[in-house]
Amino acid sequence: MSDSALPRLEVCLSPALLHLYDTKGAVVVIIDVFRATSTIAAALHNGATCVIPVASVQECIELGNSIENSITAGERDGKVAEGLQYGNSPSEYPKEFINDRCLVLTTTNGTRLLHMVKDADTIITGAFLNLSAVCDFLVAQKKNVLLGCAAWKDRFNLEDTLFAGAVVNKIKDHFSVNCDSARAANYLFEHSAEGDAITFLRDSSHYKRLSAYGLQGDMEYCATPDLHPVVPILKGKELVIYK
Ligand code: MLT
Repeated sequence: MSDSALPRLEVCLSPALLHLYDTKGAVVVIIDVFRATSTIAAALHNGATCVIPVASVQECIELGNSIENSITAGERDGKVAEGLQYGNSPSEYPKEFINDRCLVLTTTNGTRLLHMVKDADTIITGAFLNLSAVCDFLVAQKKNVLLGCAAWKDRFNLEDTLFAGAVVNKIKDHFSVNCDSARAANYLFEHSAEGDAITFLRDSSHYKRLSAYGLQGDMEYCATPDLHPVVPILKGKELVIYK
């Protein structure tokens, strides 16, 4: 898994570990499978003009008020945050609703990690819903890649690690992989869930957390590969579809 002539592929398992990685000039993939980066892929593929990730609920409300045709959305601890119009369910953003609108989004972990990455060349978001599109993009860039798991309040989580493993598994021949968290993520993917992520993920802590709010349908949706084959890329403060 290692050929030093190739660009580097690494996995950061928690935002708390981000400072250990050199992201300068790299492509960083922000991963929050349940559910921020799944919602971002769904909203953009269904016609949103952009998604603006913001850190706080207050900022979300203020920005939403200042942008025409925008909606404010997001969650705290998995529940729709007070003061916002919509939540963080990908199914809340079908074409009939989100087309031509801007989604201003704040979430517990996903948008936080996005704002923590400072010096990358490129920031994109990834989830099972856009797995193959993300992999094709990463191979084409020929740059160092860091797969950044948003995790849960800095704690390791299964769903983001599993997705990172799926990416490593698909693209490892194009990169130098000398990173044990990438090896571990790949191992997890190969030995647990290849082809059936949701069966494995039903035993994860966030699945259980969101299930308590009746959101099992969201997670089944988020585990579906390639339903929304777009690459959300950060341009300034906005995530838009890479073209
Ligand atoms: C997050 O950013 O922590 C998540 O997307 C939480 C969720 O809505 O499930």
